[in-house]
This record gives sequence, C-alpha cells and structure tokens, in this order.
Amino acid sequence: MPDTSFDLFHSASALWFVILASLCISFVALVISVMRARQSLREPATSEPLPVRALLREFEKNGHSPEASLVNWSPQTLRGILAKELPDAQVIVVSNREPYIHNLEGDSIDLVVPASGLVSALEPITRACGGTWIAYGGGSADHLVVDRNDRIEVPPDNPSYTLRRVWLTDEEQQGYYLGFANEGLWPLCHIAFTRPIFRTSDWETYEAVNRKFADTVIAEARNERPIVLVQDYHFALLPRMIRERLPEAIVITFWHIPWPNSEVFSICPWREKILDGLLGSSIIGFHTQFHCNNFVESVDRFLESRIEREDSAISYGGQTSLVHAYPISIEWPPAQLGKLPDVAQCRARIREKFGMADDVSLCVGVERLDYTKGILDRFHALDELLKQHPQWIGKVALLQIAAPSRGTLPAYQQLYEECVRCADEINERYGSDGYTPVLMVAEHHSQEQVYEIYRAAEVCMVTSLHDGMNLVAKEFVAARDDEQGVLMLSMFAGASKELLESLIVNPYDATMMAEALLQALTMASDEQRQRMRRMREIVRDNNVYRWAGSMLLDAARLRKRDALDRAMAAPPAAGGKLISIFDHKRVAAL
Ligand code: F6P
Repeated sequence: MPDTSFDLFHSASALWFVILASLCISFVALVISVMRARQSLREPATSEPLPVRALLREFEKNGHSPEASLVNWSPQTLRGILAKELPDAQVIVVSNREPYIHNLEGDSIDLVVPASGLVSALEPITRACGGTWIAYGGGSADHLVVDRNDRIEVPPDNPSYTLRRVWLTDEEQQGYYLGFANEGLWPLCHIAFTRPIFRTSDWETYEAVNRKFADTVIAEARNERPIVLVQDYHFALLPRMIRERLPEAIVITFWHIPWPNSEVFSICPWREKILDGLLGSSIIGFHTQFHCNNFVESVDRFLESRIEREDSAISYGGQTSLVHAYPISIEWPPAQLGKLPDVAQCRARIREKFGMADDVSLCVGVERLDYTKGILDRFHALDELLKQHPQWIGKVALLQIAAPSRGTLPAYQQLYEECVRCADEINERYGSDGYTPVLMVAEHHSQEQVYEIYRAAEVCMVTSLHDGMNLVAKEFVAARDDEQGVLMLSMFAGASKELLESLIVNPYDATMMAEALLQALTMASDEQRQRMRRMREIVRDNNVYRWAGSMLLDAARLRKRDALDRAMAAPPAAGGKLISIFDHKRVAAL
C-alpha cells in the first residue's frame, strides 16, 4: 500500500519549489527589462540619421490619410503642393524613354509619342509641374531640333517644360539598354520564364551610362536641392550617384516593373551594387505593397542595414530610404477623349477600317510586343472558346495591336514569329471569307488611335503574365464614358488589385480564360454599366496626379524633417546659444 503522508509531503515541497522558482525568474526578468529601458533612455538610437518610426508614423497619418481620397486630384492640386510645400524646388525627371521622339521621314520630321506606360503617366505630371525631363534622344531627327545645350521645349504645340536629350552611342545602347536592362533586369523582375542574361560588359556599360545621366542631372540642377524623379530599371545606380554629388537633393525613384523575391533577385551577379545604388534614394516607390516587401526582403538578405518592417523604411550607410507603394495611373479626364467622336461612330470607323462585319463582337489587346504581356495566351483563349463554343465562330474577333519593341533582341523576334504563326493557325482553322478571327497588327499607334479602338471594343483583354501595373486596363476604363465594355484582367497585373470589377483571370489557364471570354461576350448591358461605373470612379479618384502628389507630399515632409535635423546638428551660433527645436526662423531659413 502506498505511503500517502510521504506523497503529500513531497507534493507540498514541489509546489513551494515551483512558486519560489517562478518568483526568482520574474525578478530576474524585471531587472533585465529595467536595465534595458534605462539603457535605451541613455542611448536613444543616436546612430540613426532619422527617427524612423516617428517619421513614418507621421507619413502614414498624413500621406495616405482617408482625406487624400477626398481631394480632387488635378494638375492644379499638384501645382498647389509644389508651391506650398516645396517652394522653389526644381523638378527634374529622368527616364530612358523620351516623351517626344523626332524622326526623319524623307524630307520632313515626324513627331512620335512612344507606346510607353511610363510616358503616358509622367507626361501630364511634368506638364503640370514644369521643370526638366532628361532622357535618351533616340529619334533619327532628335539632334536636329535641339538647341546648343541639347534642349527643346515641349509639348511642341504648347511648351511647358524642357526636354534635355542625352546622346548614346550604339555600343552604349546595346550594353546598357538592350543588354543589361532588357536582357538582364527585365526577365529577372518578371515571372515569364525567360532566362535573364548577364554579361560583365553590359554591366560596365550600364554603370557608365548611369554615370553619364548623373552628370547631366548635375549640369541641369539650378541649385543643390532639386527634386529628382528617377524612373525605372534603367537607372538603378543613378540615385546613389546623384546623392554623392548633391547630398541635399530629394531623389524619388520609381520602379515601374515588379520586384522579384529575394531568391530570384540573388541570380543577379551585381545584386548588392544595385541595392546600394537604389538606396541612394530618399523614397523608392513600387506599384504594390507586395513588390515593396520583396525589395525590403532583398535588402535584408544582401546588405547590412536596419529595416523598420512595419514602417517600410531602410536605414543604410547613414541614410534612410522610405519604401512605399504608389499605384501609378493615368490622367483624368484623358486628353484623348476630347478628340474623339461618340462610341457608335468609333465602333463604325474601326469596323470599317479592319473589315469587320457589324454583328461580330470585337475583343482588343493593346501593348508593346512583349513576352510578358500574355499575347499568345490570349490567342489560345480565343482558340479554346471557338473550340468549346463553336456557335461563336464568325461572331467574335480579336484585334491585337502590338507596338514593335526591343525588336533586335532574339526573345522579341521569336515572340513576333510565334504570334504570327499562332494567329495564322487560328485564322486557318476558323476563318472564312470576310471573317478573320485574329487580326494581328504589329505597328505603332498614336494614343488617339488607341483610344478610338478602346471605344469600339466589346471586350478588352489584358492578360499579362506579370506586370507592375498595366495602364492599358485603366485607359480602357477611362475611354468608356458610355459605361459599356468588359475588361478581362490578369491576376498578375498590379491593376487587378484596384479594378476588382473586371473579370480577373489567370492567363496560364486557357479553359478559364475561354469561360471568362464567354462571360464577357454575353454580359448584360446593365451589369457592364455597374462594373464599368465603379471602375471609372476608381480610376478617376486614383488618377496620376494623386500618384505624383502622394510622392511629392512625402518628399515635402522629408525635406522639412531634414531641415530640422540639420538645424539640430548645426554647431551653436557665435554667441554660444543653442538652436532650439522651437527656433522656427532658423529652421525655416535652412
Ligand atoms: O513597363 C516597363 C517599361 O519601362 C515602362 O515603364 C515603359 O512604358 C515600357 O517599359 C517601355 O519600354 P521601352 O522604353 O523599352 O520601349
């Protein structure tokens, strides 16, 4: 029989032991936390150039407040922000692609606005803000129309800013643009399963061309403190180069394409240098939070830095960069709409132009001929629809506008050939006299022509395999003031996070896309109206002026914070009086 009194004695001792041990542990924990608190009071993160948390909290409170959505964002709003928040700041935009290209056509000079989301977004902004846009002068007549400083005032019909052209040799274009940017970084950043190609000679040229643009920024800057808007993956090294020579400049870098996860990014042999270059920026912008997170992960993995994850800020080499999502957009209302007739007339004109019968439903695809855009997948979806629902043969056609792009690269040549082959096969299979299911037009179209096509279409197919934002989706919505038409939108385009009333599709799933196409073609007019109305509200409210305005407001707050920091760091004045944080005059004068 067990001895119960012995057991009870042991249980009571064990209980006392547990209580005593817990008290000891709590006491030690208390002592440690008090010591830590005292330590942090003695050393308030003085190694940080900016109190990141406080700064970011302020940003969140102001920059992305609910009131921002109540503002009617327009060119006037932007000008107001510049005048009030950033007085005397010179705006300098830097991009590879220029907003206006002058080409020699026989004896005359043709003016071309390139097919580029970047240009569609930045042009109205630069028109509103004034300033200087620095870009590669790639047109055959570009050098004929500039002044002796390589400048020209644009837009040609109503000049409001300066275009400063930078000349590149064929070798520079080959190594920096075609090579490193478009055979290396472009496929690296897009999940399209095209292998990136990295060559040391391309990298060296990329670095040299970034340096050339940095020299031009310095030459164009009227003072030490311009606001430089660096655009896209052609200029990953430029922010650092500007920062070294103009430490007080505000450098806002916007990356127009996705940022890959850190494992994919690790493929790039110069990954640390690219990150270091970008972290010369005051603000680094992406279209989506997802891409911000990928960028922050990459920095975390490859650089010694301090990351405030919650606030999306990175302190590196004594400087803080904010990493924020600013979804890009288009101007509202779009300038093209004023130039076009009503939808019925656009519809009739496009049908006549492309020889389409009136009872054929028109689907359109509009983009640069690029393997990330899912053009072939769109063709496959139509093929699948006609296979599964043969009653649509003769009743639906796809007009594919594909602006030639980066055409000397093998991947682009191959894509063109595959598109033509696939279109021919579908036309062979289902076409008949007077009916061509796929019309592939690989030519540049002006924005006005593109808007006319949007207005003529029943369905717009945006089926990118991967896309930072995709402005075609927003342009289609903006073009439809009749509130009709259906948008099919890839779940892998940034725009799908905003345009939730579109038919969201997976471009890799031809069966699903064919069903979505059927749904689009048979959607009642009332449902089209409801969806389109909501999407139009979203594009109207989140227009491109809001995109730029949010970045400029953030820049203004950075500048004020910088002024304060410098005031606090400045040595005492001759009389020995310390500058107080409340010495507004001194701060304002800086
Ligand atoms: O989509 C990325 C991007 O750089 C855009 O920003 C731009 O509109 C487009 O590619 C144009 O490419 P490219 O200048 O090479 O013709």
